[in-house]
Amino acid sequence: NAIGTDGLKRQAAEAALAFVRPGMRLGLGTGSTAAHFVELLGAKAREGLELLCVPTSEATRAQAERCGLKLTTLDDYPELDLTVDGADEFDERLRLIKGGGGALLREKIVASASKRMVVIADASKRVATLGAFALPVEIVPFGARSALRRIEAVAQEIGLVGKAAIRLTSQGTPFLTDGGNSIVDCAFGAIPDPEAFAQALDATVGVIEHGLFIGIASSVLVASESGVETLGE
Ligand code: A5P
Repeated sequence: NAIGTDGLKRQAAEAALAFVRPGMRLGLGTGSTAAHFVELLGAKAREGLELLCVPTSEATRAQAERCGLKLTTLDDYPELDLTVDGADEFDERLRLIKGGGGALLREKIVASASKRMVVIADASKRVATLGAFALPVEIVPFGARSALRRIEAVAQEIGLVGKAAIRLTSQGTPFLTDGGNSIVDCAFGAIPDPEAFAQALDATVGVIEHGLFIGIASSVLVASESGVETLGE
């Protein structure tokens, strides 16, 4: 019997519970896979597990509050024990593309403040080379179209050509992140050298952050019909 993508997301989320210890300070990811984890974690908290959590988005904050999880901030706890989050793509070297849900900035800040980042995903997110999923890049809304041009130019310098577009809502208005910024989705196809592209984006005026997570994830828990596999440690 096929489990279905949502069932696989839930299995990955269940597997991540094994990394949680009483008293931990936890970063909570954003997206449909992370939502399974938040729900499962909420059940543990209601059973008495003591945790303090930092959400990576307003959506996750609202869900975590509904689930009865205790919330805190990086201002009160600048170092966290563990962040559990989803991803849009990952490769064998645990490099990720994130930001499909637009939460990449807080996700990267929270994951970077954590001793470990455990990624939970169904096997459809696993790729040999990152880039089939358009890379989200968060930019300052002021001069957005100029930033988009600069992003295309730096991409072209390292051989990446394709379509970059400012993300819109389903109503056709500019999409704004929780921080009030815009997102450029970069459909440049395969990114053979993600480190080079990340560096180039980091150096681009108007770019706040990008969805390439390199050297941040400690493990990826991949759920497929044959079970949950752990990449990394
Ligand atoms: C949110 O900005 C993203 O980084 C999510 O982590 C990513 O889009 C995965 O979402 P799903 O679990 O819904 O696929």
